[in-house]
Amino acid sequence: MSSFISIAKVGELTDGTMKEVKVQGHEFLLAMAGGKYYVADGRCLHMGGRLAQGKLEGTVVTCPLHGSQFDLKDGHVSRWLRGSGVLSATIKVLKGSKQLGVYKVKVEGDSILAEI
Ligand code: FES
Repeated sequence: MSSFISIAKVGELTDGTMKEVKVQGHEFLLAMAGGKYYVADGRCLHMGGRLAQGKLEGTVVTCPLHGSQFDLKDGHVSRWLRGSGVLSATIKVLKGSKQLGVYKVKVEGDSILAEI
C-alpha cells in the first residue's frame, strides 16, 4: 500500500535541476521542470546509471552512462541508448516496452511529498 512521504523541502531545487533522494532504502530522482516537481526511480532501466547525474531537458532526463532518455511525465522511454547501429536497434525492440517508475507528487507547506 502506498502513501505520501516527505522526500525533500521546497527550495532545495531550482527549475531545470534534479537530485537523488534516498527514501526507505530506495533511490529516487527528484526533478523540477516548468515549475513542477517530478519523482521517478533514481536508477536507469538499462544498467542502473544514476539518473540524477544525467541531463534534464524539459521533462526528459538523459542517463549519464549510455544516453537512454526517459520522460518524467509518465516514465516512458524517449530513447533507448544512444547510437543507431543494428545492435542498438535490436536492443530497442527488446527493451522498448520498459517504463521508468514515476510517482505522484504534491506539496504541503514546505514539504515535497511523493506517493511511494
Ligand atoms: S545505464 Fe542508462 S543507458 Fe545504460
